[in-house]
Amino acid sequence: MKRRTFVSGAAVLAAAGFVPPAFAATIKPYSWDLTPPTDTRDNFIAWGTARGEDPVFLGQRWDRFQALLRNKDIWSAATIRAFLLTPREEFASVNPAIYKRAYEHNFLDIGYGVTMSGPHLQGRMTNVIDVKRGEKVLEIGTGSGVQAAYIANLTENTYTIEIIAPLAARTRALYDKLIDKGYTEYKHIKTKAADGYYGWEEAGPFDKIIVTCGIDHVPPPLLQQLKAGGLMVIPVGPPGAQRVLKVSKTQGADGSITTSREDIYGGKIVPFVPFTKLDGDKIAGTHNR
Ligand SMILES: C[S@@+](CC[C@H](N)C(=O)[O-])C[C@H]1O[C@@H](n2cnc3c(N)ncnc32)[C@H](O)[C@@H]1O
Repeated sequence: MKRRTFVSGAAVLAAAGFVPPAFAATIKPYSWDLTPPTDTRDNFIAWGTARGEDPVFLGQRWDRFQALLRNKDIWSAATIRAFLLTPREEFASVNPAIYKRAYEHNFLDIGYGVTMSGPHLQGRMTNVIDVKRGEKVLEIGTGSGVQAAYIANLTENTYTIEIIAPLAARTRALYDKLIDKGYTEYKHIKTKAADGYYGWEEAGPFDKIIVTCGIDHVPPPLLQQLKAGGLMVIPVGPPGAQRVLKVSKTQGADGSITTSREDIYGGKIVPFVPFTKLDGDKIAGTHNR
């Protein structure tokens, strides 16, 4: 969906009770050369503060980054950079009750009955698909917008779909506000309000797909829109008891397509919000079989 199809971003945010952050109005705009220091907490905070970010949240971001490293939820230099450049607090700011809790381990309530996934899960899912610059990535389940924000630091071709239309509009408005503020990497994100079960055919095929809602099977349209050689990460299983799978699609010399699956948590159950279904313009039930 094109950005201009939504009502004014400020109006949507005001209607959602948005509380503007109290810190710098603008930051140094994004560039692919931005390289946050990873040697010490003090150096990282000094660097981020010079860019125009809030030192308190920068400290929390650093501390969560250290926990992600210890837990082996993040490991590549590109994903580390994406984590360190992403202001989770801005994506939590849509709900004043969770605004200051953006760097906690847990998922957080963002309204509309859905959640912003926790940073450990997002770190691992992002790192597993190993996005390279230039690749096309599709996310199903925009939610708060923070997952696609990480991916926008990895490639300029990020597509994200959200089924709850007012939430899709609220997050689109937030991206627009953040772009104005200097987070120009969010220009890399194309958004759409739709049922993500069917993917985004006209934008595909995709090198990588990341699904952030739980379902009991891999949607055939998503597998079909994944390139041969591509990777998908998706929570699969019964309601509230999914396992997070990395699905690899490969093409043999004879042209035959095969897929393989690997559990990125070695069997641990990770509950996700349901992969719901649109019936006309209403959400009705789920896509579970
Ligand atoms: C765990 S939540 C949000 C995750 C999000 N990536 C984040 O970090 O904030 C999953 C999201 O998937 C959305 N969702 C559920 N079913 C969907 C569908 N069929 N198509 C698109 N989005 C869907 C939910 O509305 C919810 O916003």
